[in-house]
Amino acid sequence: MKTVGILGGGQLGLMLANSIYTCGADVIVYDPDPSAPLCRHAAKAYNGSWTDYALIEEFVRAADIVTYEFENVECAPLRPLAQISPIYPGLDLLAITQNRISEKRFLKENRLPHVRFATVEDIHELEETTKTFPLPFVIKTARGGYDGKGQYLVRSKQELAETITNLKELVKDDQPFSAILEEFITVSDEVSCIVARELNGKISTFPVFENHHRNHILDKTIVPAGVPVAVRNKVKEIAEEAALALDVQGLLTTEFFLSRLSDQEKKQEVSGTVCGDYLIYINEFAPRPHNSGHITRNACHMSQFDALARILLEIPLTDLSCNSKNTHCMINILGDSYKNDSPADLDMSFLADHANVAEVVLYGKLSARPGRKMGHLVAWGEDRESAIQNAQSFKDSLDQLN
Ligand SMILES: Nc1ncnc2c1ncn2[C@@H]1O[C@H](COP(=O)(O)OP(=O)(O)O)[C@@H](O)[C@H]1O
Ligand SMILES: [Mg+2]
Repeated sequence: MKTVGILGGGQLGLMLANSIYTCGADVIVYDPDPSAPLCRHAAKAYNGSWTDYALIEEFVRAADIVTYEFENVECAPLRPLAQISPIYPGLDLLAITQNRISEKRFLKENRLPHVRFATVEDIHELEETTKTFPLPFVIKTARGGYDGKGQYLVRSKQELAETITNLKELVKDDQPFSAILEEFITVSDEVSCIVARELNGKISTFPVFENHHRNHILDKTIVPAGVPVAVRNKVKEIAEEAALALDVQGLLTTEFFLSRLSDQEKKQEVSGTVCGDYLIYINEFAPRPHNSGHITRNACHMSQFDALARILLEIPLTDLSCNSKNTHCMINILGDSYKNDSPADLDMSFLADHANVAEVVLYGKLSARPGRKMGHLVAWGEDRESAIQNAQSFKDSLDQLN
């Protein structure tokens, strides 16, 4: 029996592990937190820090194949370990995608569509670089951000002065600081696309998902995405091109921004890819299963987790397309839905009244801080509006009762 090692024991790791079990393999996990969802279920959990390389090596030696479900593990110390057990989807692409500067440079070098950007590699460069970059823009720290953390929107000279003061306060002189400045665009739609690439190079792609954020955190995902088919096809094509250029062996999620081409933009050079009235930009990559991909468990012939499990265990992939003509809608259940930080089980006594809820998944986290992802639900409908309404009405009942 093969053993897959997963770096990271969050909900993505938990759902991936379930898929690995159904392929007849075993799972071990590495995560500093013994109460992380997967640590409480896996055959063995290694609970060291992300810099305990001796323990990480022991973990890698105990696994036949290793993958990661989050991106903030340092690449360089993992390189020699990849000689012991292969680490998928790869370390070169992890190095590129875990740093916004190298990610944007990769997009530029590979002529993949991206918003205009500038890089800052020292806190003292910040003032100079921001002086000449057209407003409005976002400053994003190069490493470690997620759910909008480490991002500063700058719309005016005054906001810029305030942000610089705050950042200088936050980053003391001797501390390393690197960030990108990104043109702040008027986003009309956000979509994501997950490409699955097998070890033999064969590419299969999930349908394009439409995503809606609230407070920078993913709130809803809808499939099929409510944008023209031509735009969806172009998004898929770009996502596949990126997966090939990154030489992914596993899953690559690409998050996209879409905006509408203005009359003025139709006449001038633009930084995104034009498709009809739409402009397409890659926002960022995640070389792993993705929150938006939870919807594949119900909406597609195969889930993102089953797809990755099969790739790791070298079982060929089959159809990843939508499994019906229905629309599906996923809503995240955050800590905000719980009355207090230490969650009792959610009251779902009304679930029988919601026949179109396909599933409710709870991750078993022991503490329910606001903004923390605790679970999700997926509902379906015969069209987009009813799918959204069915998901939202269950979520509303959940919030009323709990
Ligand atoms: N350049 C931008 N222009 C417009 N909106 C943006 C821009 N960058 C980020 N956003 C908004 O902030 C959200 C989070 O940004 P993102 O770069 O995806 O960081 P995270 O790592 O937190 O997901 C995006 O999904 C989008 O809604
Ligand atoms: Mg994002």
